Amino acid sequence: MKYETLLVEKRDRIAFITINRPDKLNALNARTKSELREVFENVRDDSEIDVVILTGSGPKAFVAGTDIQELTGLEEQSGKEFSERGQAVLNLIENLGKPVIAAVNGYALGGGMELALACHIRIASENAKFGQPEVALGIIPGYGGTQRLGRLVGKGKAMEMILTGDQIDAQEALRMGLVNAVVPLADLLNTADSMARKIIAKGQVAVRLALRSVNAIDESSFGAGQILESELFGRCCSSEDFKEGIIAFLEKRKAIFKNK
Ligand code: COA
Repeated sequence: MKYETLLVEKRDRIAFITINRPDKLNALNARTKSELREVFENVRDDSEIDVVILTGSGPKAFVAGTDIQELTGLEEQSGKEFSERGQAVLNLIENLGKPVIAAVNGYALGGGMELALACHIRIASENAKFGQPEVALGIIPGYGGTQRLGRLVGKGKAMEMILTGDQIDAQEALRMGLVNAVVPLADLLNTADSMARKIIAKGQVAVRLALRSVNAIDESSFGAGQILESELFGRCCSSEDFKEGIIAFLEKRKAIFKNK
């Protein structure tokens, strides 16, 4: 499949997706969003892929936001639909059913930060910068950012970032729990790759059900989340992977999972 604004490489059960508009700091235009939808649907349905790594092209930006050019002329109804289309793409990523690691290689601003928030794990390079600068343009984050940021870092910090539009650096993002790790830019993709390989070495039935159960934090009460957890735990127990995992432990050998 050929994309105009993305680079896609699949190897060793990992799909590497790179947003490739470096001259525009990888800003998300309509084409990029539609290609992201297409590629994520493709990797979701690809039985050869277990983990996705998402990054931006060049050393400067992950994604510097939605393409500001395309905001021109939006009005109430068209603005609402613009936001809904963006939300749908990011919801697809969050609910992909396979882990998505954001390798944040520079600016993650506006829609770029929201895109990183929709991923399951975020690893940042030392030069990464995060911010929700929308209020400076007279708008609010519209790709789920007002909802996801507070859930990840707490309402107070989310309010501060969204109301001031201030940027934070990678170390501050780490302190806030916004990112999982900070590494030199040169090590970013290798670090994401190592994490992906760790995940791939586990039973994928359990990995995917764990992803689903943890994702439910955002949608259910503690009680409803526990009901779902027990149901999914039971489902793991009916898998071949579970039987292999237990036998391998007792036989003191490495498990060979069939992901069934
Ligand atoms: N939408 C469209 N184009 C963008 C963009 C965006 N969100 N962010 C950067 N670009 C473009 C710039 O217009 C410029 O294009 P040009 O060379 O054709 O003029 C190019 O990318 C490089 O950006 P530039 O501003 O020259 O780089 P910089 O290093 O001086 O500044 C930023 C980097 C990220 C601070 C600055 O580009 C910026 O503030 N971008 C907008 C961030 C934003 O508000 N995002 C939220 C949008 S809702």
